[in-house]
Amino acid sequence: MTWYHENPEIPHVGTQPCRNEYTPFAPGENAFGPKESSSRRLPLNGVWAFQGFESPEDLPEDWLQRPLDGEMPVPGNWELNGFGKPMYVNIRYPIPYDPPFVPVKNPAGVYRRAFEADPRGGWRWMLNFEGVDSCFYVYINGQFLGYSQVTHNTSEFDATPLLRSGRNEITLLVLKYCDGTYLEDQDKWRMSGVIRDVFFLLRPENGIRRYTVRTVPGETGMDLKVRWEAGSPVSLRFFAPDGRLLEARENQREQAVFHVERPCLWSAEKPNLYKLLLETETEQIGEEVGLRTVCVENGVMLVNGRPVKLRGVNRHESDPVTGAYISREQAVKDLTLMKQHNINAIRTSHYPPAPEFLRLCDRFGFYVIEEADLEAHGSVEASLTTDDHFDYSGIALLVNRPDYEKAIDDRIQGMVQRDLNRACVIFWSMGNESGYSVAMERAVRKVRETDPTRLIHYESTHILKDAPVPNDSPDTLDVVSRMYASPDDIRGFLNRSHETRPFFLCEYSHAMGNGPGDPEEYWKLIYSEPRLIGGCVWEWCDHGIRTGLRKDGSPQYAYGGDFGEPIHDGNFCVDGLVFPDRTPHGGLRELKQVYRPVRVEQRSPGVFVLHNMRAFTDAEEDLICEYEVTENGRRRLKGKAELHLPALGEQEIRIPETERLTGENRFIRFSFAAGQDTLWRKRGEEVCFDQLPLSGLTMKTDEPVRGCGELRVERDRKTVRVTGKGFRYTLDTGTGLPAAMEYAGQELLEEPMTYNLWRAPTDNDAGVRRDWERFGYDRMEPRVYGLEIQQEKERVTVTSRLSLGWLTYHPLLQMETRIVIESGGAVWIEADGTVAPKRPPLPRFGLRLVLPRDFTRVRYLGYGPGESYADKHQASWWGAFEEEIDEAREDHIRPQESGSHTGCTTLAADSGNGMLTIRADAPFSFNFSRYTQEELTRRKHNWELQPSENSILCIDARHAGIGSNSCGPALAQKYQICEKEMHMRFRLEPVQQKGAEKNE
Ligand code: GAL
Ligand code: MG
Repeated sequence: MTWYHENPEIPHVGTQPCRNEYTPFAPGENAFGPKESSSRRLPLNGVWAFQGFESPEDLPEDWLQRPLDGEMPVPGNWELNGFGKPMYVNIRYPIPYDPPFVPVKNPAGVYRRAFEADPRGGWRWMLNFEGVDSCFYVYINGQFLGYSQVTHNTSEFDATPLLRSGRNEITLLVLKYCDGTYLEDQDKWRMSGVIRDVFFLLRPENGIRRYTVRTVPGETGMDLKVRWEAGSPVSLRFFAPDGRLLEARENQREQAVFHVERPCLWSAEKPNLYKLLLETETEQIGEEVGLRTVCVENGVMLVNGRPVKLRGVNRHESDPVTGAYISREQAVKDLTLMKQHNINAIRTSHYPPAPEFLRLCDRFGFYVIEEADLEAHGSVEASLTTDDHFDYSGIALLVNRPDYEKAIDDRIQGMVQRDLNRACVIFWSMGNESGYSVAMERAVRKVRETDPTRLIHYESTHILKDAPVPNDSPDTLDVVSRMYASPDDIRGFLNRSHETRPFFLCEYSHAMGNGPGDPEEYWKLIYSEPRLIGGCVWEWCDHGIRTGLRKDGSPQYAYGGDFGEPIHDGNFCVDGLVFPDRTPHGGLRELKQVYRPVRVEQRSPGVFVLHNMRAFTDAEEDLICEYEVTENGRRRLKGKAELHLPALGEQEIRIPETERLTGENRFIRFSFAAGQDTLWRKRGEEVCFDQLPLSGLTMKTDEPVRGCGELRVERDRKTVRVTGKGFRYTLDTGTGLPAAMEYAGQELLEEPMTYNLWRAPTDNDAGVRRDWERFGYDRMEPRVYGLEIQQEKERVTVTSRLSLGWLTYHPLLQMETRIVIESGGAVWIEADGTVAPKRPPLPRFGLRLVLPRDFTRVRYLGYGPGESYADKHQASWWGAFEEEIDEAREDHIRPQESGSHTGCTTLAADSGNGMLTIRADAPFSFNFSRYTQEELTRRKHNWELQPSENSILCIDARHAGIGSNSCGPALAQKYQICEKEMHMRFRLEPVQQKGAEKNE
């Protein structure tokens, strides 16, 4: 047996040259029907016999004949079906860095199944594999047919010579690792097996081999240029998007041109598809064709001649149950969700998706940046020597190896050749994080020759130290791409005078955990500069693996380390906009708003300007606009706006009535709803909104003291007790804060009130977390230096001087706290503090109240519904909201802070027979949850969480923003709590009966 899997110069044996992907149909069949309906496509998916071995060396002599002892789904990953375990690792290679060699202990899976064939009559039996991880040897009836690799490219073999009539047997030997593993070091679960469809295509001897369709702008209108390779003449029929036959050509050779005078162009907004039928005597192929152009002019990317912004996401093919295999239904679900959230672009990180996915993108309308299956990120680690400083240029180590040059080209060409007829693909991406080299540049130039109709993107242009330098002519790559550049970095780029290309953020706003909080910052900038194309958020989905169900029936997910991997990267794979099962995270709702098709601003009192962010759709074509004006969250005015808002244009709307309103906390909210049903939306569903303030926020705190008689004060060493009519509050002299608040016979505090600086670190806090913990932000202890009581007629004031600190260092905060207890039962808590120099910014500054568990609801005026933060509140608006405890909390797979509400002016927590109302002297935030920050901090998975017996209410004068620092830039300064002088002033007032909310 000859081995090929440690020879990068032989990536394939016995495969056909690459061709564009299509499904042939028999004459008379509907060639535009689903591929499964073709009688010429014989699927081999299903359960195959299977046996796993530790190493190919362990295969018995007679392995090709010997029965196998198990089963394996095709498509499917071994590691999710009983052979081996999943491993999650990001950058580091899962094997020793020893290219082209791979470990001898290289898990080997033997697959076998029978099928019926009738190889007579001159038919070619073309065996297709759309994806096998990582390489495979294929045998028909015990005879070697060939070998192939490149997990996400298609391999096609002509099996005809080895077939016999009747029952046949196919055997595969799939290996976990091969020389190609060094080029497939994507940040993903490392799993193996036949991961995509396997099928035969029955082809005639003289059929069509391959063809390209291209849009060429004509003098007037557009030309569709079709070229093909076929063994016989081809007849073509060309249909308009509405199904009308436009032209028919009989018995053509090599090429045909169709002229379309007034073309219905394809774009992500209007995915018009013409149909082209290619026929020979023996078969027919239906192709959906989008007419569109893409180019760069004066540094601006144009689609069909208009500037287009890419509101994108990065998408891996991943599912918590089926692993790397994604069915059509799963793909449709992703695309539907993306459309619902105003996403218009997808980078297929970091490999070509299943071919069907791109056909769906054509139909749904997405701009696709299709990426070659090429990543050598682990070269960075591998090139690190102990005495070396971290040298990122090492990333290009592998692409500089002469023995890998062919493999690089093969991977890129495999993608381009397969998908060059897809209208949705507007950029070819050469791969991810592999560095640049002469070989890479040659591959790029070859793409340019193969397909000059698309733009070429590649982010990883680092050149290995001392390696031959590529030509590096600026037009080798059409766009300058970066990942995780901060808005300031991008401004820097724009100021570089010698650079005129457009700029593309192939990854930005790392969506891990609670986040991202910064997309709007990016988009303000992107809209302000024509050369900025936009970008793709990292990333679409969380990659948890479903390991069972939790008590409440929800899925239980595992991440890196949960399978005992020797090396792993923890929950870094749980970094998407949707949960593994595609339930949206708050981050996706944010993004939907940032990517909204219409934006509104106020020009002057009563005058608003609507901006259409789309390039091809007038807003009135598919949107309906209504608005309402609220005061304190209550509607005062509503109306409809007639839209006359052309693509990329603006419209002024006058609503003079808004100026007659004078109430408090006044806002106008424009809502844009779908004007018609689409594949992804029902008519009337909200597409986006824009809320604008018409007044400032009014904080009502300085209310007159209500006369309710005398207050009695008792003091002992540890407490100050204040008794009034119907209440008794006990302050702790060790903290200066209320430790118990008995009101109307009910105790309001289950635990003493505390100063609250800590939040359960989000994934985006990972960077600052270490500093926070070093200074004990999670375990601050108060130290009271002195306490004074001042008694007046209707109130008692307790003032304490104290500090908050922890071991080793000067106390973090020097504070003065004043508690004012009014005879009516209201309590003011005011604290002023100075932060010690050189301390990391605070997570929050507020108080924590542990309320009895029957406090289960809150009502508030602030940003809702759902969670909101200083920088993450695009999806929420200011209004009056009511919420159950934990309703706003997100059940992040790795527990962390979530569910806060920002910009609040009032809050009332309700127990059913009593209420606690809270106001402040400035807009505040709060969280209301059954989970303490300590519990959320300590647990590694959501399924380990223990709820508290009580209801935890955190009220914050300040609460830090979210950002995207888990991989992106540090949280913008304006959302950090960096100021040295801290202040809070809250007013707490218990109210007895339900509904009697005094302060509303
Ligand atoms: C990028 C990389 C992605 C992913 C991301 C972090 O550098 O291209 O594949 O690893 O970082 O989640
Ligand atoms: Mg990587």
